[in-house]
Amino acid sequence: IDQYAVFGHPINHSKSPRIHGLFAEQTGQRLQYRAADVPAELFRSAVETFFADGGKGLNCTVPLKELAWQFADRLGDRALLAKAVNTLARQTDGRILGDNTDGVGLLNDLTINHRIPLRASRILVLGAGGATRGIVAPLLEQAPAQLVIANRTLEKAEAIADEFADLGELHACGYADLNSRFDVILNATSASLGGDLPPLADDILADGGCCYDLAYANQPTAFVNWGLRHGASLSLDGLGMLVEQAAEAFYLWRGVRPDTRPVIDLLNRERT
Ligand code: ATR
Repeated sequence: IDQYAVFGHPINHSKSPRIHGLFAEQTGQRLQYRAADVPAELFRSAVETFFADGGKGLNCTVPLKELAWQFADRLGDRALLAKAVNTLARQTDGRILGDNTDGVGLLNDLTINHRIPLRASRILVLGAGGATRGIVAPLLEQAPAQLVIANRTLEKAEAIADEFADLGELHACGYADLNSRFDVILNATSASLGGDLPPLADDILADGGCCYDLAYANQPTAFVNWGLRHGASLSLDGLGMLVEQAAEAFYLWRGVRPDTRPVIDLLNRERT
């Protein structure tokens, strides 16, 4: 039976085995998918062993996405741009392909599942770490009216703005410099899960605007609550993105596209 896994650290609360198990059941694919706690210093040997033992595909999550990018023999366009890999796939010639399905996962959740328009929208991304790197290129492809990256450490936002400047217009700033309204605010900081928030002015969300936290938890995150308090028409966490990026990885590995809707609905019902 074909073997798949997610590596990360920490990994104990990963929903990926459940999601891929549901996809396999739904599509009639025979496979096994497990989660393994792999700290960065053990990454290379763990991945080599996994593929040497016949493993077909791996997901890599925090803090391993950049290491996975370095490990891959070949990179898909999405991974090349993001400089991060969340999906490794063994190809028929034995080489390992690295891809990044986070950006398309976010786009599918925003635009298909929630019908949030991005074209001609004013979009603000909070944070300038790995999560932001994965989503900037796909967001620019949507031709927003404006894309701004705000970060505590201004230089990191500026570095990303420079790096992606060829793909479209984007601006970097600090949180205190935000002085206009945005239709969509995406939280890509790691602050939210610790119950923390970047320092956001009260008037940066446009009327009827949407908030989206790339992180997810069983309870509403600090940023989801911020959106609700500031009049967002939708304030969502990243559960849908998680299922969508998994579906794209499943498609890459198996050539079959699972239906994400029933899986998202089920996981939402299972939240406590
Ligand atoms: P990830 O891969 O999840 O993006 P990361 O690369 O460590 O993780 O990036 C974390 C991001 O969250 C950074 O943008 C970080 O801001 P700095 O670049 O200034 O460090 C941001 N972040 C983390 N905790 C934060 C907090 N309490 N307030 C504001 N931003 C925070």
